[in-house]
Amino acid sequence: MNRQPLRLAILEATRILERAGVASPRTDAELIAAHVLGVERGRLPLVPLVDPTVIDAIGQFVTQRAKRVPLQHLIGWAAMGDITVDVGAGVFVPRPETELLLEWGLKLIDGRKFPVVVDLCTGSGVLALAVAHARPDAVVYAVDIDSNALAWARHNAEARIAAGDTAIRLYSGDIADGSMFAELDGLVDLVLCNPPYVPEGTPVPPEVSDHDPAHAVFAPEGGLAVIRYAIDAAARLLRRGGGLAIEHDDTHGTAVPELVRARRVLTDVQDHPDLTGRPRFVTALRG
Ligand SMILES: C[S@@+](CC[C@H](N)C(=O)[O-])C[C@H]1O[C@@H](n2cnc3c(N)ncnc32)[C@H](O)[C@@H]1O
Repeated sequence: MNRQPLRLAILEATRILERAGVASPRTDAELIAAHVLGVERGRLPLVPLVDPTVIDAIGQFVTQRAKRVPLQHLIGWAAMGDITVDVGAGVFVPRPETELLLEWGLKLIDGRKFPVVVDLCTGSGVLALAVAHARPDAVVYAVDIDSNALAWARHNAEARIAAGDTAIRLYSGDIADGSMFAELDGLVDLVLCNPPYVPEGTPVPPEVSDHDPAHAVFAPEGGLAVIRYAIDAAARLLRRGGGLAIEHDDTHGTAVPELVRARRVLTDVQDHPDLTGRPRFVTALRG
């Protein structure tokens, strides 16, 4: 068989993806090649030549990605912290920017024994499962309104248990419901929330408009409706010294901290940038 240089296949894939308007063509081309070869991306330079069947397989994935199918749907997983979760049709794809919110939360509960953690709007379960992995002693609750998302979260939770992690407590519910987790009122160490927050009508790339569920992305009231529910829930659930982190739209770097400050029980309100320097998540403590 006529073996071919992998480097050239990746260059060609990068060109195709660039022409299709993919935001990170080189990264995606390399991740596709790594997926096809079953190696980590960092090990690609150790694979100089590949069989034509590999080139064909890479080509098929690239064709799909050029149609703006999310990379994570093609490879079947997304990463967060030290874990990966399975994702696909019907569930929001976890984003790298949410890593920073997770890091803030893990730092807050560092040194606290048996922390109680609540993940509002859990989607694939990714934040709850990443916390349960990092902190096996934590008692982690998670909720979502969408049965499709919950099916993915259940699947991911079972996979994490099989890998040796502690089970999370997964619930179906609407965080607008003021009695959600009422038994935990005043007992929670950490509330994490990556809600739908994009103002309705905002143009989004095809990966989002055609593949993320709309109710996972857009929220009424200029993108703030579900964030308001999360703030109400956190003010009720958190114990003194407990903390809250909510991701928000990059246009809400002032509006969301103001909403949090309006709740007198929440103190030390700070807004944080994402990896690209845009305002991305707010944190506060329960005074
Ligand atoms: C942006 S996704 C985030 C998923 C996950 N936390 C992550 O970071 O990948 C938002 C999730 O909130 C859920 N959701 C939307 N409105 C909700 C509500 N009122 N109550 C509970 N979950 C809600 C959606 O179904 C979706 O799974």
